[in-house]
Amino acid sequence: MGENTNVTAALAVVDEDYYTLRPDGSLVTQSTAAFAIAETLERLDVRPGARVLEVGTGSGFSGALLSELVGPTGRVVSVDVVAELGERARELHTSQGRTNIDLFTGDGALGAPGYGEFDRIVAWTTPRLLPEAWVEQAVPGAVVLTPVELAPSVRTAAILRARVDSGRGVEGLDLVAGRYVEMHAEELGQWSVPPRGVDARVGEEGRELWVSALWAERDGAAAGRMLKVLVECGTTRTRVLEPEESAVDLVAYLYARYPEDLSVLGLGGPDWGEGHADENGAAVFTAANDGCVVHGGSPRVFERIQGWVNEWRGAGRPGYADLRPVLTRVDGGWRVRAEFEGDSGS
Ligand SMILES: C[S@@+](CC[C@H](N)C(=O)[O-])C[C@H]1O[C@@H](n2cnc3c(N)ncnc32)[C@H](O)[C@@H]1O
Repeated sequence: MGENTNVTAALAVVDEDYYTLRPDGSLVTQSTAAFAIAETLERLDVRPGARVLEVGTGSGFSGALLSELVGPTGRVVSVDVVAELGERARELHTSQGRTNIDLFTGDGALGAPGYGEFDRIVAWTTPRLLPEAWVEQAVPGAVVLTPVELAPSVRTAAILRARVDSGRGVEGLDLVAGRYVEMHAEELGQWSVPPRGVDARVGEEGRELWVSALWAERDGAAAGRMLKVLVECGTTRTRVLEPEESAVDLVAYLYARYPEDLSVLGLGGPDWGEGHADENGAAVFTAANDGCVVHGGSPRVFERIQGWVNEWRGAGRPGYADLRPVLTRVDGGWRVRAEFEGDSGS
């Protein structure tokens, strides 16, 4: 990614701690790391004078950077579902004399009705589909940057860059690894279990195992029984990738090849992973990207993962750089799936 001096300059001007720390020194839970914001803003290519919609105000830090990027002739409209965050960010922006940002509370999936049209839309929270409202509120040529799910299971997300065309259609440009909290309708009291898309869960609060998968959606009782087996019999951690191999790339391969066969599993607490599961067991790469698979129950599930690894190696270990997004119009927006460059159809 080329260096964008505007983003570097904005980062030099905006004080991160001023936005992300509360008066007692604690971090605003919803803050995004500065490096991740910088990467996203570089891909977004915000020009002076632009009108930008931000979905997910959080600490207000990314909004302040956007306010710098659009300058005095541009405008930022930022929405968060949590009213307290918007109010806090408004006070902070006002104290800094930032007058080119509007903040409001609402469901960002609806965009910002009544605020006009946007040249750029950026989301820091993950929708299941690319929402219809965003495309309707974008000018032709506008760029939308958002995490979005690439398979039917929750958390199977990557960050999509797309361009709105003159007929209010939308063209997928590229995908990079990354995701943010799933879009939700109310303030969250916990972060371990996704607020949507979970088909079965067992265990006590804070240490729950959960699963999201097409098969589990069809048979939640069987999914619950499988999770209980994992709790009772435990899981094993086995290294399956070489140190130079990336589970992030392997999972990107699986998004493109086997989106419907992927299962996502919560492992009790914040740990979770993507891989394969059925009513007899589970085997997942954890979010740690350490090349290990956590597995339990039937060994056949683990063997399926090993089969996928061998297939991925045989294909030359493709990853995000080899993927392109494919958007399909569905009710409420655009479903996003990944495909390999050069693949035909699908
Ligand atoms: C990762 S944080 C954003 C952090 C922000 N970029 C910053 O610089 O601090 C994601 C935010 O999205 C918000 N959010 C989640 N679901 C939403 C929804 N449906 N509409 C609007 N905001 C939402 C959360 O409340 C949270 O503040």
